[in-house]
Amino acid sequence: MKNKIYFNICEHQSETKEELFRNIEAERQYIGYYNLPEQDISDVLDYVKVLDKEIETIVVLGIGGSSLGAKAVYEFLKPVKSLTHQLYFFESTDPLNIMDLLSKIDLEKTHFCVISKSGTTVETISVFKYLYAKQNLAKNYTFITDKDSALDKFAHEIGSKVFYLPSEVGGRFSVLSVVGLLPLALAGVDISALLKGSSRVKESFFNDGYLKESLLNKAIYYAKYHTTYNINCLFAYTETLRYFSEWYVQLWGESLGKKQCNSAFHVGVTPIGLIGPKDQHSFLQLITEGPRDKSVTFIKIDDFENDLMVPDITLPHLESLDILNSRKFHELITMQSDSVIEALLAKGDIPLDEIIIERVDEESIGQLIYYYELLTSLVGELINVNTYDQPGVESGKIILKSKLERTQ
Ligand code: PA5
Repeated sequence: MKNKIYFNICEHQSETKEELFRNIEAERQYIGYYNLPEQDISDVLDYVKVLDKEIETIVVLGIGGSSLGAKAVYEFLKPVKSLTHQLYFFESTDPLNIMDLLSKIDLEKTHFCVISKSGTTVETISVFKYLYAKQNLAKNYTFITDKDSALDKFAHEIGSKVFYLPSEVGGRFSVLSVVGLLPLALAGVDISALLKGSSRVKESFFNDGYLKESLLNKAIYYAKYHTTYNINCLFAYTETLRYFSEWYVQLWGESLGKKQCNSAFHVGVTPIGLIGPKDQHSFLQLITEGPRDKSVTFIKIDDFENDLMVPDITLPHLESLDILNSRKFHELITMQSDSVIEALLAKGDIPLDEIIIERVDEESIGQLIYYYELLTSLVGELINVNTYDQPGVESGKIILKSKLERTQ
């Protein structure tokens, strides 16, 4: 993974970087996600081996941090990897979505991973009740939750297997814990390689590798200019990162959009997920000529490992487009992102950087995940928010529960 930063970072004081690094080192002692790359995954791998041979499909029942991470990894790998099982995500109370997903699975041949850290999330439990009423075979369910939650007690009551979240790992930082690893491993994803990727970024950051400088510089820049460049666009030139974008929006939005600690100020940097080249034909206009309130990170794939090309044919009236003939699509998409980067750099007032991942595999997505988790923690530290809570989400949940109680 490479990171090329095009904005001016010379002004950053080395003391600021050293202090930030020290604070993150301190945070690493009690915030759980930092140490997930080196966890023992033998219990997950053993559990995968005993999955009923009749099972064809894995379903994740969860929302937010309990589903988006696994979905990002699965959807990234799906176009190139032959996985052992299909994975579906029941994440919504939209009845049409529930019916649509149900029509795709055979309940008898499905294993359900019911994932909720709190164990009481309305979306997850309502859909779980619906599915459990149709299929109540305890062995076809695995629960992932906090120890002693209501869901943990229920799972024990019916005799299903339960995995617990490690301590101090919040929902949106949990993809590299059992929350993401179990459903991914059940689907046939190489979770050791996923963790190896995240470990490479961790090593590079904490052991003076080149990502340390680039992450510290980027975080300091984003924090310093968070009121000017208050929108951060992640512009990925691959359809495979569509759901990674959703994961990033949740991670960034829910972690950084806060009232500052001990202050009345509301802060945050609004995350936008864009996919190229499609969004060149929509949102790019706003970046190019709209308000100077956006920083943009382009994500590119170095090697698509695919030689699909435009055929060498001439079509009447379209002769001028013979410049496309015999072009490989991977060359075309890279030329497209490079052209947009060049055009935006020429403007001179849009902070840009590029992340280049090696290929579409577990290691690359593991790197991206850990890189973004670290960046989120660094920016959160600098803009003085509690990165790991979500009081703004909680208040809506509390009102919904009281509405449900009042209207029963
Ligand atoms: O990041 C978070 O904490 C949230 O997005 C949660 O993951 C989400 O609200 C789901 O919560 P739970 O896992 O408790 O069902």
